[in-house]
Amino acid sequence: MIEGILFDMDGVLIDSEPVILHAAMTYFETIGIKTQPEDYIPFIGAGDRKFLCGVAEKYGKKLNFEEARDALFALYAEYANDRGPMDGVHRFIKNARKSGMKLALATSAARAKAEINLKAIGLEDSDFDCMVTGESIKRNKPNPDIYQLAALSMGLPPQECLVVEDAINGIKAGKSAGSSVCALTTTFTIPEIEEAGADYIFTSLDAFEDFSTKEEFDAILHASIGSDDRTVYGANKILKAPKAIMGDEALLKIAFDQALEARKNAYSPYSKYQVGAAVISSATNRVYSGCNVENSSYGATICAERNAILNAITSEGTIGIAALVVVSEDAPPAPPCAQCLQVLAEFSRPDTVVHLVDVAFAEGRGGTHTQYLFKDLLPHPFIFPSMRQ
Ligand code: THU
Repeated sequence: MIEGILFDMDGVLIDSEPVILHAAMTYFETIGIKTQPEDYIPFIGAGDRKFLCGVAEKYGKKLNFEEARDALFALYAEYANDRGPMDGVHRFIKNARKSGMKLALATSAARAKAEINLKAIGLEDSDFDCMVTGESIKRNKPNPDIYQLAALSMGLPPQECLVVEDAINGIKAGKSAGSSVCALTTTFTIPEIEEAGADYIFTSLDAFEDFSTKEEFDAILHASIGSDDRTVYGANKILKAPKAIMGDEALLKIAFDQALEARKNAYSPYSKYQVGAAVISSATNRVYSGCNVENSSYGATICAERNAILNAITSEGTIGIAALVVVSEDAPPAPPCAQCLQVLAEFSRPDTVVHLVDVAFAEGRGGTHTQYLFKDLLPHPFIFPSMRQ
């Protein structure tokens, strides 16, 4: 359960990266250096000293840091006032407060800059339980110090805190502090954020629905694993997983194992034909399995594939199927029936891979494995008009 939120400031509460960039480029121009926006990228979120001195060093210049920083802040204050808070900041903070969470501001920037920013976005020190700025720490992000200090200052272990970040260095800092990290796509691309290890990806704090308890907040986080970069699955638009928890092969192996295990529970006293199925959820990489369940009234029988989908929906609400596995003792291994294909179509993409295997293959003893794309099994599924994308 998340008990506290540790906010980075720049790029999370205020879209200040363009402002600081403008101010820094203007500052360097005043000392005769024409910098490029790319020069600053390695130093974003790493504190003012690295930000200024790192760029100066690239151009073979040594700076008097204090002097340079004062000049930079003077320019920054001038430009920052035109910027409001980022979308959803006030609403999110209000919800978090209502839920009883503790809030900290943890920025590698100097206190002076934090004060300029807070004023520009209509917040005050007192809106946070704790405020840690660059002066309080020796080692900057990506080291975990700032988030550890902020969490402990609020009396919470970092593991119970969610770090909200936009920068690669900050995401890494949050992860190595032991916290969960929610990354906003303000400054870096989704693949870069994924690579840095973010647990959740949102476009802005505005992408969070309202919540009034910690439980509701947790539910929003878990339902939204992934980014606002949505992928179309049948009648659903599903958030992409931020990263594969493990390689595709390993995940597929789990799906085979679970389908095999489920098959053992097949309730098939009439046909004696046992089927096991497993689907991999594209948003969470979780695997859900099912077996066939027959009925005295034969037509009421539920196939393994539909049973697996029902399990997935029961846990996740709606899913995008990244891959489907069906295990039977048939030669060649049986494909899903037409009724299952129609149900699968609701949650599959044309390129969802369907693995049909026999028991021997699933057990790793040779056997048969055939592979289809969903669109080759059901090229023209029916999707209700208002759900077509
Ligand atoms: N069955 C499945 O579980 N999946 C399919 O796609 C085809 C058929 C089950 C239903 C029934 O219990 C048995 O196999 C024989 O039809």
